[in-house]
Amino acid sequence: MSKPIILTGLRANGTFHIGNYLGGIQPMVQLQQQYAGEYQINMFVPDLHSFTTPIDHAKLFRNTLNNLKMYMAAGLDIHNQDTFIYRQSYVPAHSELAWILDCFAYFGEISRMTQFKEKSEGQANVSVGLFNYPVLMAADILAYGAKWVPLGDDQKQHLELTRDLGERINNKFGKELLSVPEPWEKQMEFASREVSVRVRSLVDPQKKMSKSVSDPRGTIDLTDDPAAAAKKVMSATTDSFGEIHFDFTERPGISNLLHILALLSNRPQNEVNSEWEGRTSYGELKSAVAEKVQAFLTELQERFAAVDEIALMAKLEESEEQMCETTAATLYRVQQAVGLRPQE
Ligand code: ADP
Ligand code: TRP
Repeated sequence: MSKPIILTGLRANGTFHIGNYLGGIQPMVQLQQQYAGEYQINMFVPDLHSFTTPIDHAKLFRNTLNNLKMYMAAGLDIHNQDTFIYRQSYVPAHSELAWILDCFAYFGEISRMTQFKEKSEGQANVSVGLFNYPVLMAADILAYGAKWVPLGDDQKQHLELTRDLGERINNKFGKELLSVPEPWEKQMEFASREVSVRVRSLVDPQKKMSKSVSDPRGTIDLTDDPAAAAKKVMSATTDSFGEIHFDFTERPGISNLLHILALLSNRPQNEVNSEWEGRTSYGELKSAVAEKVQAFLTELQERFAAVDEIALMAKLEESEEQMCETTAATLYRVQQAVGLRPQE
């Protein structure tokens, strides 16, 4: 297991929406297709992160498995020998390392995290878990010494924090205890992304499509009825310019539709834009997107229903066992350094 590691996970506090799919799941699957063989691929479900904001706990266990099934429906090949899938809570070193990292993380630096600010805004009772989220995320990465961590741009600060914490510990104890991931710019190059994917809400296209936003008309869930999802697209908010032009600042609604169309058709954004540029029928564009969305969901849901759960569980258990072993070694090194375990 000496191959460099690509590691990523998607927060799952319920079902995924097409924003999660296009921004997170699809790029993950493409990386596996591109790099398995050369790299070890760790794709996990951060189930401990999923209740940093309130959820229905009766559904968590099943949702976690469904999220793994969704990775598979999206094309993740679990039979690949270099690929590991696991649930964070089944690999206890994540939480143990997180506690140690907590004691070297500064209140000030964690307070600057924008995701914390965004997700806590307007909430009455904000959990300490939400505050602590990025430290656990750092542990998820440092426990394996992952080199590459494909992420959406909303996670940039968390990656930088991971590097800072790892380097801080290495400097403090005078040795390379933790191997830190590559910096953000290199991560972007590696994932060959010039701009990262950000699907907007269909109702309020100034904002990103999000589970946390309460209006279901703005969000297309992967479990939505395909025809109902197409209807959501048909009633998406646009503008009164009356002419199609890609410009997220001035025309977020129309641009969002072009964005979704390009992503679902696997075509470059520019190519799709020039095909539609200057045309005046918003209805035609909406129909084209609605059709794509409907076909995409129908196909994905068929694949989801056909996922072999027995094979999934077998792979999951095997991976979790191996990940427990790998991470225990890293954790032990750190425990020794901080004085929790005897020096050799
Ligand atoms: P949500 O805002 O729906 O609660 P999270 O913040 O939990 O979603 O994000 C989970 C993952 O999905 C992250 O990796 C994030 O980059 C990605 N993601 C979430 N929303 C979008 C979106 N609208 N477009 C692209 N990627 C997204
Ligand atoms: N924060 C990521 C998201 O919102 C999920 C996540 C948790 C993660 N720990 C991670 C991603 C470690 C990559 C590496 O989806």
